[in-house]
Parts: sequence; C-alpha cells; structure tokens
Amino acid sequence: MTVRFNKETFRGDYSFRNSPAAIRRFPFPFDRDEYMYSVNMEPHRAAGPDDSVFQRRFDVDEHYLSEMEDRAITLAGDPGRCQSLPHMRLAGWDLLELIMTSKAEDYPDLFQLTRDRDRWRWVNRPMGIDDSFTFLDDTTLPFGPMEYITRQTQGDFAVLDHREGNLWMDAGMVTSQADWSLDFDIGMNFFEWHAPVPRAAEMGIFQRALKFLLNVRQDSPARRLNWTMTVNPRLDTSPETYPEWGPEKRSLTVKNVGAKQFLRVELQSFWRLPRSNALAFPIRCYLCALEDIATVPKWGRRLHRVLRDLPEDLATYKGFAVNRPLIVEYLSQCDDGKPTSPGI
Ligand code: HEM
Repeated sequence: MTVRFNKETFRGDYSFRNSPAAIRRFPFPFDRDEYMYSVNMEPHRAAGPDDSVFQRRFDVDEHYLSEMEDRAITLAGDPGRCQSLPHMRLAGWDLLELIMTSKAEDYPDLFQLTRDRDRWRWVNRPMGIDDSFTFLDDTTLPFGPMEYITRQTQGDFAVLDHREGNLWMDAGMVTSQADWSLDFDIGMNFFEWHAPVPRAAEMGIFQRALKFLLNVRQDSPARRLNWTMTVNPRLDTSPETYPEWGPEKRSLTVKNVGAKQFLRVELQSFWRLPRSNALAFPIRCYLCALEDIATVPKWGRRLHRVLRDLPEDLATYKGFAVNRPLIVEYLSQCDDGKPTSPGI
C-alpha cells in the first residue's frame, strides 16, 4: 500500500484538503436521518472493509505527516497537552508496543519493528526515524514511551487506569480535541470527565458504556464514532486556545460556508493493554468540508436533516448553534425531500 502524504496546514492559511479518495473513505457517521446519543459500540477487528478507515488497526492516511507537524507545534507551545501520572509508565510501554506491532504488520512498507528480546529497532520511514532502544527502559528513548509513539501516530490518546470499578484519565496525548482539556480532566473518572455532556447521563448511557468498557478484553478492541462541527480545518480546538479559534466561528457567510464549515468525525477505539490492564482510547479525527460532503448526494441529504432537526441543547454543546441557520440553508440545496433507507 502506498500513501502520498499531503503538505498542508491546520492553522494559519488552513491549506488542508481532502483528495477525492479521502472523501470516498470519510467515515460518514449517520445511519439514519436523525441523531441522538446512544451506546453505539461495535467490534474493531483488524482487516475491516478495503479502502475504509476501518481497514487497519491504526489508520495512516494522506494527512499523516502534516498532522504530526501540527502536533509538534501544539506541544512546543503547551507541553501540558501530553501528561502521564507516574503510575502510568507501564501503560505507556504497553501502548508503544501495541502501536508499533500493529503498524509494522499493517503497513510493512512504511514501518518496521525488529525485536531481539528487549532490544528493539523501530523504523518509521515517512518520518525518517530509525531508533534502537531497550523495551521498558525509559532512558533509551528521547521521550517517555507514550509521548514517543503518539508523536508518530495520528489521533489523540487517553490512557485510562482501571481501578475501583471505574476508569481514570491518568495519561494522555491530546492536541486535536473537540473543546475539552486533558489538563483539566487529568485524574478524573469516567463520570466526572463526562459531566458537561447534556442528556446522556439521564439516559443511562454512561452507566452502560462504562460497564461495556470495563469488560473490553485484550485482542477484542471495540470502536464507536462521535461527531461535531468545526469552522476551518483546525485540529487544535482546545479550551486553552479558544481565543485563537473561537472568533473564527463568526467568520462564516452564505458564500464561504461550504468551504469553511467542516463535519468533524472521531473514530474512537478501545484497547485493553496487557501488562498494566489499562485501557487505551485513541480518538482519531477526520475532517470533511460541507462542499465535499455535498459531492455524495445521500450524505448531503442526510446531513441536512440531521442538523436541521438536532435538539438545540446538543447543537449548543457541540458549539454550532450560532451557525446552524447558515449551515442548514446551505445543505438544503442537497435535499430533494426523497425518503432515505437506514444504513450508511
Ligand atoms: C464526550 C472522553 C468513552 C460518550 C466526551 C468528552 C470527553 C470524553 C473528554 C468531552 C466532555 C467535555 O465536554 O468536556 C471519553 C473517554 C472515553 C470515552 C476518555 C473512554 C474511556 C465514551 C463512550 C461513550 C461516550 C464509550 C458511549 C456512548 C460520549 C458522548 C459525548 C462524550 C455522547 C458527547 C460528545 C458530543 O456530543 O460531541 N468523552 N469518552 N464516551 N462522550 Fe466520551
């Protein structure tokens, strides 16, 4: 498999673009014309459908190198985006092993891992990295193990400690989040960090989701999709940088809404780690402009109905209530009023 990597930015001039192939594999998240929170989890097996974002365990796409550059910029300005409490060290090594073995098996032309007992050599061809180190010896890597591997892997990562029948956000690498803060949430449990979400707690969703997650076993990872809306193709929409991107929400017009308004989809997966019994939670972000969504008629039609009918408290929580009239007006051009059938 050969991937051509784009040279693009997620800030400043926002030169991010999706190729036609990237649009085709965009994980459109709606299987019906309406949306409400649910415990939407399914198995995340290796070897998903060809040419889909589910094909491999950790999807590498045309945005890889630019996303890693964007992460490095964010970390240089705010090292607190990567944190690991002292007891999460072993989980960091577990995560490094999971990602290295998966990527080396799934993309042998891009990544190589050679192991001689605890002497490991890792080659990341796209990023020009060739490092030898001793597994479980932090002094042999330039960063802690979680930071080392997540500086080379698309998506954010929360690493959860499992204790007292709960999950605790005790480590993470978070530079492309939909308006939440690792620095604020570090040390919180599953119910505490979900407290700002409307409706879901009353619907019993978090009780059921936690029960499911506590039972995720090694070699049986799970996944779900989540979505929100972002003005401009910006990865770093954190509370810490709100003064930079918040005002951009007011820059939408009838003329630019198709190009500047993005549907932001998160492919979230859940992995039990072998030595630490921690749970790894990668959150992989895919962005698609409304004008690109509109090139797939059934997507444009469905997105129009979902956004038009979404309850106001969800639109407010997801941060696009102020722009909903413009967005719905734009997407109404895609909606011929025909009925749709369930499924994507
Ligand atoms: C939102 C973390 C698993 C459902 C969030 C937020 C965080 C988060 C940080 C943002 C809260 C805020 O506004 O500050 C996590 C972590 C998980 C996890 C680390 C893994 C252990 C799940 C699962 C579900 C779920 C399994 C299943 C239903 C939701 C929902 C939202 C949310 C519905 C609101 C999203 C939106 O409307 O855009 N989660 N979550 N989460 N989470 Fe989770």
